Amino acid sequence: MSDQTAKIQEILQSYPADQHYSLAIMQDMQHEFQYIPREGLEALAGYLNCPLSVLYSMATFYKALSLKPKGRHIIKLCDGTACHIRGSMTLVEGITRLLGIADGETTEDGLFSLELVNCLGSCALSPVMVVDDTYYGRMTLEKLPGIIDTYRKEAGI
Ligand code: FES
Repeated sequence: MSDQTAKIQEILQSYPADQHYSLAIMQDMQHEFQYIPREGLEALAGYLNCPLSVLYSMATFYKALSLKPKGRHIIKLCDGTACHIRGSMTLVEGITRLLGIADGETTEDGLFSLELVNCLGSCALSPVMVVDDTYYGRMTLEKLPGIIDTYRKEAGI
């Protein structure tokens, strides 16, 4: 049994086999793997005796759940009103130029994913970008390459 299979089984067994828990179980898988592997969805369908299509619809409906692997670092770019007015779209273009990814995409090396999000509650620092849990306020195009490089260096790239 692979590590992934074992972990999926562990998550399933920690809940009763009841469809009421399907979202919670998927959230646990998302937390563990940063996405919901196909194997996890199939195992969940079997465990709950529920059609795969129902779980698939749920997984695509909730933005916090992803069926595709996400990057090691999640770049969240705020596009709330304050950040939008102060140029968040220019930053999105800058990230797309630097990393070749648009909203919802992951770099080929698996290092970064980009997500456009609503107000992060730090409007005074707009435009705001968050990488994992680190906030970068008053973001500019000029600051982008340096920040990205920090994570690349950390990963030895
Ligand atoms: S609008 Fe971006 S932090 Fe509020």
